[in-house]
Order: sequence, then C-alpha cells, then structure tokens
Amino acid sequence: MARGFFITFEGGEGAGKSTQIARLANKLRGRDFDVVVTREPGGSPGAEAVRHVLLSGAAEPFGPKMEAILFAAARSDHVEQVIRPAVERGAVVLCDRFLDSSRVYQGVTGNLDAAFMTELERVAINGMMPDLTLILDLDPAEGLRRATARRGLDTPDRYEKETLAVHRRRREAYLAIARSEPERCVVVDAAASPAGVEQAIAAAAFAAIEKAGVMPKALAGQ
Ligand code: TYD
Repeated sequence: MARGFFITFEGGEGAGKSTQIARLANKLRGRDFDVVVTREPGGSPGAEAVRHVLLSGAAEPFGPKMEAILFAAARSDHVEQVIRPAVERGAVVLCDRFLDSSRVYQGVTGNLDAAFMTELERVAINGMMPDLTLILDLDPAEGLRRATARRGLDTPDRYEKETLAVHRRRREAYLAIARSEPERCVVVDAAASPAGVEQAIAAAAFAAIEKAGVMPKALAGQ
C-alpha cells in the first residue's frame, strides 16, 4: 500500500511557520505530490470546535491539565479524521504544530507531569508519529515582535500573552527535543531571510521524502 509522509512544523510565536508551509506545499505540488496542509489545534471539524475553547482562554481557569487533555482530544480527532487517511493514501501531510507543541507548551511551561504527558501523547497520536519535524528556531523577542506586527489591533491569544521568560523556556525545550530526537527533528534558523528559510526547509524535506521512497502522484499510479 502507498505510504505518504508526515511533516510537522514547530516553533515559538512569529517564527513564520504558515508562510513556510505554504511555500513548501507549492514546491511539492509543483513536483506532482499529493499534498495536504493542516494545522493544530484544529484541522478537523471536531478539533476546530475545541480550538476556539483553547485559544480564547476559556479553558485557562481550569488549569494546564484540562488544557492538555483538550489539546489531546483535538489531536486524536485530527489524526483519525485527516492525517492518517491522507498518509495512508500516499499524500505528504504538512501540519502546523503537533505533539511537540503539547510537550513544550503544556508539558514544560505548563509544568505537567512527564509520565502523564507521555501517556496522553500515546493515546492522542495512536502511532502517528511525524516522519520529519522542522523546528523553526528564533529569538522569542523577535518572534513576538513579528507576531504583534501581524496581529495588528487584535488582542494576543492565550499563549502569545505570556512573558518573554516563558517564551525563552519554550525555545530551549524545542532545542532539547531536537537534541534528543535527531533522526526526526531538523532545526531551521528562522532569523534568516524568508528565501533562505524556504531553501533550508525544502532541502531537509526533499531529502527525507526521497530517503523514505515516497513518490509523486503519477509514479505512485494515482
Ligand atoms: P495559532 O494561532 O495557531 O498560533 P501559531 O501561529 O503560533 O501556531 O495558535 C496556536 C497556539 O496554541 C500556540 O500559541 C501554541 C498553542 N498550542 C499549545 O499550547 N499546545 C498544543 O498542543 C498546540 C497544538 C498548540
């Protein structure tokens, strides 16, 4: 059976994930790959319903454990409704945030118990581990500056509004994940020009896709 490829994009606020996902999607489509672009929290109708509860801050008073369970519930629905079916039919899935966001935002800066987080992750992904995770690394002061400029007059969301110190801990947590899982994770310098970041991402993604033997639509006989 055709097996596609699952790529996740991670990083702090304002690192440019959505711009870069759109660029990689274009490149892949240009080479005739079947591409699915999705995001978390959300990506499926059930998960999008939970997204609003999380990002509005409505769940914040109930504590980080409640939020972590909601992220996991949303992820489980997203995996089973969207990601797994797409990968199984041979598509390349590009997902804006996935399990590492929970490890970092809920696990590390939410101070949740590691064993609890591991178990929640196992249930939520049900074996759907990313094949490649691109971590867009940026000084949080610069990331927040970019995120503020992009937001304009809208108020910061539940997570953007936290202190610079919290954002710095998240950056370190992402880099620690990359060090502990070098087979899966590639750190990309997001302070480089958008074209430079695009090139670094394309190089890492195409190398990994080729190594896995994933084929474009025509060659895969679709
Ligand atoms: P979003 O508006 O999609 O922001 P971004 O452009 O930064 O990706 O908001 C997603 C927010 O949710 C972001 O601040 C990170 C947070 N988040 C978690 O805390 N845990 C998770 O598991 C996920 C997927 C996201």
